[in-house]
Amino acid sequence: MPGGGGNHDPSRFDIRRDVRGHVSFGHGIHYCLEAPSARLEARIAVKSLLERCPHLATDPADLAWRTGLLIRGPESLPVRW
Ligand code: HEM
Repeated sequence: MPGGGGNHDPSRFDIRRDVRGHVSFGHGIHYCLEAPSARLEARIAVKSLLERCPHLATDPADLAWRTGLLIRGPESLPVRW
């Protein structure tokens, strides 16, 4: 469901999902002070990477996931380009 229906399926990568209401930068009075610059930096980094490696790809079946509760993500991210 690109662009609607919530964003609660962490197992699915959808770069166009509706991000309103997400809490990656916190919420309320302690909302991340540097969220705008972090967003800008990420946008520039991903854009530069994809311009240089337009066929960048990974195979989700190859990924080993971290087991801790604090940070969710793969142990490593092997890619092809
Ligand atoms: C992708 C990058 C980043 C993410 C995901 C992120 C995430 C967060 C989150 C979730 C909080 C709220 C913590 C809480 O509620 O206790 C927070 C607060 C904060 N972040 Fe970030 N952050 C990022 C980058 C940065 C950067 C680059 C800086 C500074 C150079 C920064 C400075 C701060 C500060 C000062 C607070 C505390 C705000 C307060 O307590 O009022 N963050 N961040």
